[in-house]
Amino acid sequence: MLVYKSEKEIEIIQRNNQLVSRTLAEVAKMIQPGVTTLELDKRAEEFIRDNGAVPGFLGYGGYPNTLCTSVNDQIVHGIPSNYELKDGDIVSVDCGTYLEGYYGDTAYTFPVGEISDEIKTLLKVTKESLFKGIENAIEGKRIGDIGYAVQLHAEKAGFSVVREMVGHGLGKNMHEAPEVPNYGRRGRGVTIKKGLVLCIEPMINMGSKYIKQDNDGWTIRTIDGKPSAHYELAVAVNKGQAEILSTFEYIEEITKNKI
Ligand code: MF3
Ligand code: CO
Ligand code: CO
Repeated sequence: MLVYKSEKEIEIIQRNNQLVSRTLAEVAKMIQPGVTTLELDKRAEEFIRDNGAVPGFLGYGGYPNTLCTSVNDQIVHGIPSNYELKDGDIVSVDCGTYLEGYYGDTAYTFPVGEISDEIKTLLKVTKESLFKGIENAIEGKRIGDIGYAVQLHAEKAGFSVVREMVGHGLGKNMHEAPEVPNYGRRGRGVTIKKGLVLCIEPMINMGSKYIKQDNDGWTIRTIDGKPSAHYELAVAVNKGQAEILSTFEYIEEITKNKI
């Protein structure tokens, strides 16, 4: 069932995603060799609570933390730990909030110190592929148009698209219909209409598209151990152009001064 949101509901979802975006900027300030992913998690939880919201992931399906921190070959759902980030790593930080009865959900992949040119390209192409997807999240298009645009951009660069995990609707639940795959065919899938709020979140691998899950029941990794990148934004569908409810601006204000 597709849930169409009113302007008022979209405003609340936007407040959530703005808070997630500002939380990710707090995390950005801490990203450097030696910091543990659990330290990032603690700061994110504190910042979310200080702003009157509740971490959206904590307890969701039994998930133990505020952030998903997925390092290098970890694609998504990495559990924060005492692992110290090191020079050359990349880390996807995915964060959610719950405020006024609705969810926020946004993710960004950070470089740690100096990363290789090949991995820089992976990050750049993955972020670009997200925006190609967003260009297609407009009234009258189909879900397959989003996935097609993401996949085309990623594969043109020689990278591969994870199939098992997908974007989703966002609202009173963190995961609502429709599923938003990062691959697909133009003109296929449900028609997109104003009032839908979608999380578009390409997971793009340097090597094989195939994945495996750790024994912790959460962490998803590439089958070949090569790195993977992940960016996520929440958007509200409109005529002509999607309204992006989260933002990378606060994050990139911080990282431009560091990298
Ligand atoms: N944030 C993830 C997504 O983008 C879902 C995380 S679920 C959790 O859809 F339980 F791991 F938090
Ligand atoms: Co997410
Ligand atoms: Co999501």
